[in-house]
Amino acid sequence: MSSPKFIPVNEPLLNGNEEKYLIQCIRTGWISSEGPFIKKFEEQFAQRVGRKHAVAVSNGSMALDAAVVALGIGAGDEVILPTFTIISCAAAVVRAGAIPVVVDCDPATWNTDADRIEQRITSRTKAIMVVHIYGLPTEMAPVLELAHKHGLSIIEDAAEMHGQTCDVRPCGSFGKISTYSLYPNKHVTTGEGGMLVMDDETLAEKCRSLRNLCFKPEKRFVHDELGWNLRMTNLQAALGVAQLERLEEFVNIKRRMGARYTELLRATKGIQLPLPRTDWAENIYWVYGIVLDDDVPFDAVEAMARLAKAGIGARPFFWPMHEQPVFTKTGMFAGERYPNAERIARRGFYLPSGLALSDDQIERSAAAVRDLLR
Ligand SMILES: Cc1ncc(COP(=O)(O)O)c(C=O)c1O
Repeated sequence: MSSPKFIPVNEPLLNGNEEKYLIQCIRTGWISSEGPFIKKFEEQFAQRVGRKHAVAVSNGSMALDAAVVALGIGAGDEVILPTFTIISCAAAVVRAGAIPVVVDCDPATWNTDADRIEQRITSRTKAIMVVHIYGLPTEMAPVLELAHKHGLSIIEDAAEMHGQTCDVRPCGSFGKISTYSLYPNKHVTTGEGGMLVMDDETLAEKCRSLRNLCFKPEKRFVHDELGWNLRMTNLQAALGVAQLERLEEFVNIKRRMGARYTELLRATKGIQLPLPRTDWAENIYWVYGIVLDDDVPFDAVEAMARLAKAGIGARPFFWPMHEQPVFTKTGMFAGERYPNAERIARRGFYLPSGLALSDDQIERSAAAVRDLLR
């Protein structure tokens, strides 16, 4: 008998109108960023999250770079963000010449909160970069209050939060600028891609300009500012339109996946599972993360190696910003410790969580985790 196939950590679902819309692009010749799917995708995306404008870009990382620059954040300004996040968040702040000030996360939700953020506010703070982690959003009401009280902008990184809400309001509706990733492990994908959403027309224009090398309409090759080429292609937007049509269905698939994993792993001793809900949201399980208890005699690296041997793909949790060699070698974050983030970075990993995951694959993955902890 042949051994069962390896279960990849992610596989997207592309069996709606994706092919049909891509064929339209090819038949009409609209393959660059000028095509009609871009406008359609931006309009539909903005509408879904209740924003006036959406600007499609090449990926979620550069969406953050553009957001920081568009808000006029630069040399000497401080931006508060969670240490438990992807490098893109701190990189965008550093590349703008500003200073990333990091805060720890909550051990149960893996998100940060207003109390932790408030402790780091100084006269130099310009913005709070909120990052919603793995499927549960940060509680936004107290963060909005804090930002209002101190006159700070919020950059909301909703990369992992397509279709999620916080206190009934869509994630992505809270930031002065909110951003998304459209990488294939997201609930909505364009292959590679990102989105910025906002209500302010001037900010939207600024983001459109930054996306397109800051060309001036009146004198094309003369530049007053530097931008990037962050343009999304019509091919990518065609995928995006097809994916958005199924967002509710995708959220339901992920919620069913999360509930099934929890059912299969609830009784297993030695692991912390994701919270199914908080007072402000129901988990959408961007990924199904688990954290090994301190008394388990191996860490996430060892657990993932054993799972790989059993044919199960897994990925480590984020590595905290204050422990990134690229920053610490410059003296940044010297002496700072954030025990919750440090612990989950070493003991946390996530299981196969893609939209194409079958019930059988969920059962096999959960069984392999139970075997690990026997
Ligand atoms: C929270 C968060 N922010 C930003 C990004 C970066 O997005 P991208 O991979 O599209 O550059 C990711 C990617 O997974 C993410 O999870």
